[in-house]
Amino acid sequence: MITLNVNGVEHQLDVAADTPILWAIREQLGLTGTKFGCGIAQCGACTVHLNGMPIRSCVTPLAAAANGTITTIEGISGEQGLHPVQQAWIDEQVPQCGYCQSGQIMSAVALLQSNPTPSDSDIDQAMSGNVCRCGMYGRIRQAIKNVSTGQVQFYEPDADTASQEVQHG
Ligand code: FES
Ligand code: FES
Repeated sequence: MITLNVNGVEHQLDVAADTPILWAIREQLGLTGTKFGCGIAQCGACTVHLNGMPIRSCVTPLAAAANGTITTIEGISGEQGLHPVQQAWIDEQVPQCGYCQSGQIMSAVALLQSNPTPSDSDIDQAMSGNVCRCGMYGRIRQAIKNVSTGQVQFYEPDADTASQEVQHG
């Protein structure tokens, strides 16, 4: 049994400790916003945050998150509505097929949390592991800059989200 905190909710999962986090959040928890792309840490579609840092959930075992907190694309919006990065994505019409987008957004949110005013090279470096087969890199960069320059209000998700416990067989 592994305890996993996802989006502020604590879950007890009866799965092997070497199960990739991606499968636990998709199959056990039903959080399907995080996508499977390559399965070998090469595309970024599976990006979630572990303790605020972007990770490739397809290759990160549950054991690595046992005492940490995971945030998925479903967990970044709050009572205020969309996260500013999500709003910026809409404003710039970033998503095309959409498959890479939850991973792109999670990497962008992590970048802006650690560096609220990234340069172009900071953005390119932080986003370099997220592949977009639709080639939306220019729009992604512009959307991130819109947030960093205050054209979309950026806020910190509430860190005091009440913890709940959910049992999964
Ligand atoms: S599915 Fe994890 S990096 Fe591609
Ligand atoms: S929007 Fe299609 S792969 Fe990125």
